[in-house]
Amino acid sequence: MQHDKTSNEPLTEDRQGEVLLQNTIDPNNTQKKLYLESYGCQMNFSDSEVVASILAQDGYATTRNIAEADLVLINTCSIRDNAEQRVRNRLTEFQHHKQQNPELVVGILGCMAERLKKNLLEEEKLVDIVAGPDAYRDLPNLISEVGTGQKAVNVLLSREETYADISPVRLDQGGISAFVTIMRGCDNMCSFCVVPFTRGRERSRDPKSIVAECHDLFNKGYREVTLLGQNVDSYRWNLSSKGELKNPTEEAMNFAQLLQAVANVSPLLRVRFSTSHPKDMTDDVLEVIASNHNVCNYIHLPVQSGNTAVLFRMNRGYTREWYLERIEAIHRIIPDCAISTDIITGFCGETDAEHRDTVSLMEKVQFDYAYMFKYSERPKTLAERKFEDDVPEEIKGKRLTEIIELQTAHSLAANERQVGTIQEVLVEGPSKRSELQFCGRNSRNSMVVFDRKQAEKGSYVQVKITGCTSATLFGELID
Ligand code: SAH
Ligand code: SF4
Ligand code: F3S
Repeated sequence: MQHDKTSNEPLTEDRQGEVLLQNTIDPNNTQKKLYLESYGCQMNFSDSEVVASILAQDGYATTRNIAEADLVLINTCSIRDNAEQRVRNRLTEFQHHKQQNPELVVGILGCMAERLKKNLLEEEKLVDIVAGPDAYRDLPNLISEVGTGQKAVNVLLSREETYADISPVRLDQGGISAFVTIMRGCDNMCSFCVVPFTRGRERSRDPKSIVAECHDLFNKGYREVTLLGQNVDSYRWNLSSKGELKNPTEEAMNFAQLLQAVANVSPLLRVRFSTSHPKDMTDDVLEVIASNHNVCNYIHLPVQSGNTAVLFRMNRGYTREWYLERIEAIHRIIPDCAISTDIITGFCGETDAEHRDTVSLMEKVQFDYAYMFKYSERPKTLAERKFEDDVPEEIKGKRLTEIIELQTAHSLAANERQVGTIQEVLVEGPSKRSELQFCGRNSRNSMVVFDRKQAEKGSYVQVKITGCTSATLFGELID
């Protein structure tokens, strides 16, 4: 199991079972102990920090040792079937701990909890608590209910909850890079996607609390924040759907303005964000990136497919041409901007010709990085109700392998283009392989590994790039 946490993957990454640990451990060892394991996207990891904070108030310290835990929580993901299967397998491993400690309380949080609701209690006998993404403030009550011998469920979704006032306990992040959630839920209803069902309606968080959290992180030594939302471009504060001020005494804010406000916290605080939506990404946002050195030159812009008819079936709200125009706008407005994407292969009815359009779009755009998946049908989604999941598994797999190979070549070429250049790197800490080497990212989000010398964690250094693989740049520190 992986214990360290790299913090720059977009809202895509299907991360597996990482144990998050809070820095402060009670010296007297009297506190109740929480073992918290997280799966899924950055949003889930960010939510786990909110959960740790709510439970710290209730007397829980986090532990990495499940054997000493009083409470085991798993924050789960439903995005693809295999994400759920992984959690189910993990639950069978917990059986043993529950036998050893019958008092142990086991809870399922997050998207699987929301999707399956109380059925989870029937399907997984060792589970005591089921709590959806908007129910975390209720966890102390749910735990007390279990104390009286019952099972406890809260899967109510909210139209308002943003946990704005909760200062998340930063778990295990190395103290340099942090996630800051700016909005929750999603209203887009892409036909393949379960997120609108598991996360509920879209709502934006008060910008004052976002900026205050970023100031606080900076004062604690953090040097990078990643603003999180399923579709950051639809961030809006104090504006009705008709474009009128909800509260006339307060200013309205869109995403470009929020990004600028966070960039103003300090020129030494790097700002990233995820995820942009091609149908909504405006030039205003691109201009904020271009005009602020500390807003990173990196955009994650999921395309899903390169074919307009497939995009229509996916209900994505844009065409191939529209997407390519947005890519042109990025290159026009931000010189040297890295772009990554998400792609699904084998969506309902995808023909070979439609798949070839995805390949040709990849060739045209030359993404720096891509997260690629086989389509996995999700219950209750529009696609499940309207279309047949008719592309054979074998073809889905073949198409996936083809685009992964193509992307690996593109990622390598993108990194090779950086060899010989000098890159500004924010030092995150020792590299995975050796204590003698440090690693960090450049503005384009490429991981750079270099000899440690006198560099300090959290500082910005200049590194001359001397070599690369498709995933990493190698270089030498310049004095
Ligand atoms: N809000 C982001 C993505 C969130 S989900 C966006 O709109 O782009 C992350 C990624 O998982 C998606 O971009 C998509 O590529 C993939 N994904 C979502 N549902 C999927 C499904 N049913 N099968 C396969 N991949 C899926
Ligand atoms: Fe899912 Fe689409 Fe919302 Fe992204 S924008 S979370 S893919 S519904
Ligand atoms: Fe994230 Fe997975 Fe839920 S990707 S929003 S944890 S379904």
